[in-house]
Amino acid sequence: MELFDISGRVVVVTGAAGGLGGAIARGLDRVGAKVVAADVHEPKPPLEDPIAFLRTDVSRRSEVDALIEETCRRFGRIDVMVSNAAVGGGAAAEKETEEGWDQVMDVNAKGPFLCASASARKMIPQGGGCIINIASVLSFLGHPTAVSYCASKGAVAQLTRTLAIEWAKYKIRVNAIAPGFFRTQLNAGMLASQAYLKPIIAKTPLGRIAEPDEIVGTVIYLASDASSFMTGSIVVVDGGDLAAGGYTDQTLPYIYDIL
Ligand SMILES: NC(=O)c1ccc[n+]([C@@H]2O[C@H](COP(=O)([O-])OP(=O)(O)OC[C@H]3O[C@@H](n4cnc5c(N)ncnc54)[C@H](O)[C@@H]3O)[C@@H](O)[C@H]2O)c1
Repeated sequence: MELFDISGRVVVVTGAAGGLGGAIARGLDRVGAKVVAADVHEPKPPLEDPIAFLRTDVSRRSEVDALIEETCRRFGRIDVMVSNAAVGGGAAAEKETEEGWDQVMDVNAKGPFLCASASARKMIPQGGGCIINIASVLSFLGHPTAVSYCASKGAVAQLTRTLAIEWAKYKIRVNAIAPGFFRTQLNAGMLASQAYLKPIIAKTPLGRIAEPDEIVGTVIYLASDASSFMTGSIVVVDGGDLAAGGYTDQTLPYIYDIL
Protein backbone atom coordinates (compact mmCIF):
# COMPACT_ATOMS: atom_id res chain seq x y z
CA MET A 1 0.00 0.00 0.00
CA GLU A 2 1.49 3.36 -1.07
CA LEU A 3 0.73 5.13 2.20
CA PHE A 4 2.99 2.71 4.08
CA ASP A 5 5.58 2.40 1.30
CA ILE A 6 9.15 2.81 2.53
CA SER A 7 10.86 0.97 -0.32
CA GLY A 8 14.18 2.56 -1.25
CA ARG A 9 14.42 4.51 2.00
CA VAL A 10 17.79 4.29 3.75
CA VAL A 11 17.33 3.08 7.31
CA VAL A 12 19.88 2.58 10.08
CA VAL A 13 18.90 0.17 12.87
CA THR A 14 21.09 0.06 15.99
CA GLY A 15 21.19 -2.97 18.28
CA ALA A 16 20.45 -5.05 15.19
CA ALA A 17 22.17 -8.17 16.54
CA GLY A 18 19.47 -8.35 19.21
CA GLY A 19 15.89 -9.59 19.26
CA LEU A 20 13.90 -6.49 18.34
CA GLY A 21 16.69 -4.89 16.28
CA GLY A 22 17.14 -8.04 14.19
CA ALA A 23 13.38 -8.29 13.62
CA ILE A 24 13.24 -4.61 12.63
CA ALA A 25 16.22 -4.88 10.23
CA ARG A 26 14.75 -7.98 8.55
CA GLY A 27 11.22 -6.57 8.52
CA LEU A 28 12.28 -3.30 6.86
CA ASP A 29 14.44 -5.17 4.35
CA ARG A 30 11.42 -7.32 3.43
CA VAL A 31 9.42 -4.20 2.52
CA GLY A 32 12.21 -2.86 0.33
CA ALA A 33 14.09 -0.42 2.57
CA LYS A 34 17.88 -0.21 2.30
CA VAL A 35 18.94 -1.34 5.75
CA VAL A 36 22.19 -0.67 7.60
CA ALA A 37 22.40 -2.77 10.77
CA ALA A 38 24.66 -1.57 13.58
CA ASP A 39 25.67 -3.28 16.82
CA VAL A 40 28.68 -3.87 19.06
CA HIS A 41 28.24 -7.58 18.30
CA GLU A 42 28.09 -9.29 14.94
CA PRO A 43 24.56 -10.70 14.38
CA LYS A 44 24.45 -14.48 14.80
CA PRO A 45 23.38 -15.93 12.43
CA PRO A 46 24.39 -13.07 10.11
CA LEU A 47 21.57 -10.90 8.75
CA GLU A 48 20.51 -11.79 5.21
CA ASP A 49 21.84 -10.00 2.12
CA PRO A 50 21.58 -7.14 1.24
CA ILE A 51 21.42 -5.88 4.85
CA ALA A 52 24.76 -4.18 5.58
CA PHE A 53 26.37 -4.61 8.99
CA LEU A 54 28.58 -1.91 10.54
CA ARG A 55 30.05 -2.60 13.97
CA THR A 56 29.26 0.41 16.12
CA ASP A 57 29.21 1.28 19.81
CA VAL A 58 26.36 3.80 20.08
CA SER A 59 27.80 5.25 23.29
CA ARG A 60 30.84 6.61 21.42
CA ARG A 61 30.38 9.74 19.36
CA SER A 62 33.25 8.95 16.96
CA GLU A 63 31.74 5.52 16.15
CA VAL A 64 28.22 6.88 15.67
CA ASP A 65 29.53 9.65 13.39
CA ALA A 66 31.46 7.03 11.39
CA LEU A 67 28.28 4.89 11.09
CA ILE A 68 26.30 7.76 9.62
CA GLU A 69 29.16 8.86 7.35
CA GLU A 70 29.59 5.33 6.00
CA THR A 71 25.82 4.94 5.50
CA CYS A 72 25.73 8.15 3.45
CA ARG A 73 28.87 7.16 1.53
CA ARG A 74 27.29 3.83 0.53
CA PHE A 75 23.68 4.90 -0.01
CA GLY A 76 23.88 8.65 -0.58
CA ARG A 77 21.57 9.64 2.31
CA ILE A 78 19.92 8.57 5.56
CA ASP A 79 16.12 8.68 5.74
CA VAL A 80 15.36 6.84 8.97
CA MET A 81 17.31 6.22 12.18
CA VAL A 82 15.91 3.49 14.44
CA SER A 83 17.68 3.89 17.79
CA ASN A 84 17.10 0.51 19.35
CA ALA A 85 20.37 -0.54 21.04
CA ALA A 86 20.17 -0.83 24.81
CA VAL A 87 21.44 -2.78 27.78
CA GLY A 88 19.50 -3.88 30.85
CA GLY A 89 20.43 -3.16 34.44
CA GLY A 90 19.57 -5.60 37.15
CA ALA A 91 20.68 -4.31 40.53
CA ALA A 92 18.66 -3.35 43.58
CA ALA A 93 18.79 0.46 43.67
CA GLU A 94 20.86 0.69 46.85
CA LYS A 95 23.41 -1.69 45.34
CA GLU A 96 23.63 -0.14 41.87
CA THR A 97 27.22 0.88 41.16
CA GLU A 98 28.37 4.11 39.57
CA GLU A 99 29.83 2.08 36.70
CA GLY A 100 26.54 0.18 36.23
CA TRP A 101 24.53 3.41 36.17
CA ASP A 102 26.97 5.06 33.74
CA GLN A 103 27.01 2.11 31.36
CA VAL A 104 23.22 1.95 31.13
CA MET A 105 22.86 5.71 30.71
CA ASP A 106 25.70 5.83 28.14
CA VAL A 107 24.15 3.20 25.89
CA ASN A 108 20.43 3.75 26.47
CA ALA A 109 20.19 7.55 26.82
CA LYS A 110 23.38 9.07 25.38
CA GLY A 111 23.37 6.54 22.50
CA PRO A 112 20.00 7.67 21.06
CA PHE A 113 21.06 11.29 21.48
CA LEU A 114 24.31 10.73 19.56
CA CYS A 115 22.49 8.74 16.86
CA ALA A 116 19.79 11.39 16.51
CA SER A 117 22.19 14.32 16.33
CA ALA A 118 24.55 12.65 13.84
CA SER A 119 21.53 11.69 11.69
CA ALA A 120 20.04 15.17 11.91
CA ARG A 121 23.26 16.75 10.65
CA LYS A 122 22.64 14.82 7.40
CA MET A 123 18.84 15.06 7.42
CA ILE A 124 18.78 18.85 7.78
CA PRO A 125 20.56 19.56 4.47
CA GLN A 126 18.62 16.65 2.89
CA GLY A 127 15.33 18.36 3.74
CA GLY A 128 13.99 15.96 6.36
CA GLY A 129 13.93 12.48 7.82
CA CYS A 130 12.57 10.27 10.55
CA ILE A 131 13.97 9.29 13.90
CA ILE A 132 12.39 6.42 15.82
CA ASN A 133 13.63 5.77 19.35
CA ILE A 134 12.84 2.51 21.08
CA ALA A 135 11.71 3.51 24.56
CA SER A 136 9.82 1.14 26.91
CA VAL A 137 6.73 0.91 29.08
CA LEU A 138 9.42 1.57 31.72
CA SER A 139 9.60 5.11 30.29
CA PHE A 140 6.31 5.54 32.19
CA LEU A 141 6.38 2.94 34.97
CA GLY A 142 8.89 2.25 37.69
CA HIS A 143 10.22 -1.28 38.09
CA PRO A 144 12.12 -2.59 41.09
CA THR A 145 15.72 -3.69 40.33
CA ALA A 146 15.91 -1.48 37.26
CA VAL A 147 16.69 2.00 38.53
CA SER A 148 19.25 2.90 35.85
CA TYR A 149 17.23 1.24 33.07
CA CYS A 150 14.02 3.05 34.03
CA ALA A 151 15.86 6.38 34.33
CA SER A 152 17.43 5.84 30.91
CA LYS A 153 14.09 5.02 29.30
CA GLY A 154 12.49 8.07 30.90
CA ALA A 155 15.29 10.05 29.28
CA VAL A 156 14.48 8.51 25.87
CA ALA A 157 10.89 9.75 26.16
CA GLN A 158 12.03 13.31 26.95
CA LEU A 159 14.71 13.19 24.26
CA THR A 160 12.00 12.23 21.77
CA ARG A 161 9.70 15.08 22.74
CA THR A 162 12.45 17.71 22.82
CA LEU A 163 14.03 16.77 19.50
CA ALA A 164 10.58 16.61 17.88
CA ILE A 165 9.95 20.22 18.82
CA GLU A 166 13.41 21.43 17.90
CA TRP A 167 13.63 19.71 14.53
CA ALA A 168 10.04 20.04 13.28
CA LYS A 169 11.20 23.10 11.29
CA TYR A 170 13.64 20.83 9.44
CA LYS A 171 10.88 18.30 8.61
CA ILE A 172 12.55 15.72 10.83
CA ARG A 173 9.88 13.74 12.65
CA VAL A 174 10.98 12.22 15.95
CA ASN A 175 8.80 9.54 17.54
CA ALA A 176 9.30 6.63 19.91
CA ILE A 177 7.89 3.17 20.40
CA ALA A 178 7.37 1.89 23.93
CA PRO A 179 7.37 -1.91 23.88
CA GLY A 180 5.92 -3.99 26.67
CA PHE A 181 7.22 -7.54 27.14
CA PHE A 182 8.84 -9.06 24.05
CA ARG A 183 10.67 -12.37 24.09
CA THR A 184 14.38 -11.43 23.58
CA GLN A 185 17.76 -11.91 25.24
CA LEU A 186 17.23 -8.69 27.21
CA ASN A 187 14.63 -10.26 29.48
CA ALA A 188 15.36 -13.97 28.87
CA GLY A 189 16.49 -14.43 32.48
CA MET A 190 13.35 -12.89 33.96
CA LEU A 191 10.99 -14.63 31.55
CA ALA A 192 12.62 -17.99 32.34
CA SER A 193 11.21 -17.66 35.85
CA GLN A 194 7.62 -18.91 36.01
CA ALA A 195 7.20 -16.84 39.18
CA TYR A 196 7.81 -13.70 37.11
CA LEU A 197 6.26 -14.81 33.83
CA LYS A 198 2.91 -15.97 35.18
CA PRO A 199 1.78 -12.68 36.76
CA ILE A 200 3.14 -10.69 33.80
CA ILE A 201 0.95 -12.71 31.46
CA ALA A 202 -1.96 -12.48 33.89
CA LYS A 203 -1.80 -8.69 34.03
CA THR A 204 -1.43 -8.26 30.23
CA PRO A 205 -4.88 -8.01 28.62
CA LEU A 206 -3.76 -9.86 25.47
CA GLY A 207 -2.52 -12.59 27.82
CA ARG A 208 0.92 -13.32 26.39
CA ILE A 209 4.47 -12.11 25.77
CA ALA A 210 5.05 -10.62 22.29
CA GLU A 211 7.30 -12.09 19.61
CA PRO A 212 9.97 -9.73 18.16
CA ASP A 213 8.30 -9.49 14.72
CA GLU A 214 5.28 -7.82 16.34
CA ILE A 215 7.22 -4.54 16.64
CA VAL A 216 7.83 -4.25 12.88
CA GLY A 217 4.45 -2.87 11.77
CA THR A 218 4.72 0.11 14.11
CA VAL A 219 8.25 0.89 12.88
CA ILE A 220 7.05 0.81 9.25
CA TYR A 221 4.12 3.06 10.18
CA LEU A 222 6.35 5.64 11.91
CA ALA A 223 8.95 5.51 9.12
CA SER A 224 6.36 6.00 6.38
CA ASP A 225 4.15 8.82 5.15
CA ALA A 226 1.21 7.11 6.87
CA SER A 227 2.37 8.92 10.04
CA SER A 228 3.16 12.24 8.32
CA PHE A 229 1.47 14.38 11.02
CA MET A 230 3.04 12.52 13.94
CA THR A 231 6.02 13.85 15.81
CA GLY A 232 6.91 13.77 19.50
CA SER A 233 4.65 10.76 20.01
CA ILE A 234 5.41 7.65 22.00
CA VAL A 235 3.46 4.71 20.63
CA VAL A 236 2.87 1.96 23.18
CA VAL A 237 3.02 -1.64 21.87
CA ASP A 238 2.38 -3.72 24.96
CA GLY A 239 -0.67 -5.96 24.65
CA GLY A 240 -2.60 -3.54 26.87
CA ASP A 241 -0.18 -3.74 29.80
CA LEU A 242 -0.03 0.01 30.46
CA ALA A 243 -3.77 0.48 29.92
CA ALA A 244 -4.34 -2.12 32.62
CA GLY A 245 -2.24 -0.12 35.09
CA GLY A 246 1.24 -1.62 35.04
CA TYR A 247 2.49 -3.42 38.12
CA THR A 248 -0.12 -4.52 40.60
CA ASP A 249 -0.19 -6.11 44.02
CA GLN A 250 -0.47 -9.34 42.09
CA THR A 251 2.92 -8.96 40.40
CA LEU A 252 5.07 -6.99 42.82
CA PRO A 253 5.41 -9.77 45.43
CA TYR A 254 6.91 -12.02 42.78
CA ILE A 255 9.37 -9.34 41.73
CA TYR A 256 10.40 -8.72 45.34
CA ASP A 257 10.84 -12.49 45.77
CA ILE A 258 13.48 -12.47 43.04
CA LEU A 259 15.43 -9.61 44.65
N1 LIG B 1 12.42 -7.09 25.03
C1 LIG B 1 11.57 -6.34 25.70
O1 LIG B 1 10.65 -6.86 26.33
C2 LIG B 1 11.69 -4.85 25.67
C3 LIG B 1 10.74 -4.11 26.39
C4 LIG B 1 10.81 -2.74 26.37
C5 LIG B 1 11.81 -2.10 25.66
N2 LIG B 1 12.73 -2.84 24.98
C6 LIG B 1 13.75 -2.11 24.23
O2 LIG B 1 13.87 -2.65 22.93
C7 LIG B 1 15.19 -2.44 22.45
C8 LIG B 1 15.75 -3.75 21.95
O3 LIG B 1 15.87 -4.65 23.02
P1 LIG B 1 15.89 -6.23 22.85
O4 LIG B 1 14.85 -6.76 23.72
O5 LIG B 1 15.90 -6.60 21.41
O6 LIG B 1 17.29 -6.56 23.53
P2 LIG B 1 18.52 -7.43 23.03
O7 LIG B 1 19.40 -7.59 24.22
O8 LIG B 1 18.06 -8.66 22.34
O9 LIG B 1 19.22 -6.48 21.97
C9 LIG B 1 19.92 -5.32 22.30
C10 LIG B 1 21.07 -5.17 21.33
O10 LIG B 1 21.76 -3.95 21.61
C11 LIG B 1 23.14 -4.19 21.42
N3 LIG B 1 23.96 -3.22 22.13
C12 LIG B 1 24.21 -3.16 23.47
N4 LIG B 1 25.05 -2.15 23.73
C13 LIG B 1 25.33 -1.56 22.55
C14 LIG B 1 26.14 -0.47 22.17
N5 LIG B 1 26.85 0.21 23.07
N6 LIG B 1 26.20 -0.14 20.87
C15 LIG B 1 25.50 -0.83 19.94
N7 LIG B 1 24.73 -1.88 20.24
C16 LIG B 1 24.64 -2.24 21.52
C17 LIG B 1 23.35 -5.61 21.94
O11 LIG B 1 24.57 -6.17 21.45
C18 LIG B 1 22.11 -6.31 21.44
O12 LIG B 1 22.33 -6.91 20.19
C19 LIG B 1 15.96 -1.83 23.63
O13 LIG B 1 15.99 -0.43 23.48
C20 LIG B 1 15.14 -2.23 24.82
O14 LIG B 1 15.34 -1.37 25.91
C21 LIG B 1 12.69 -4.19 24.96
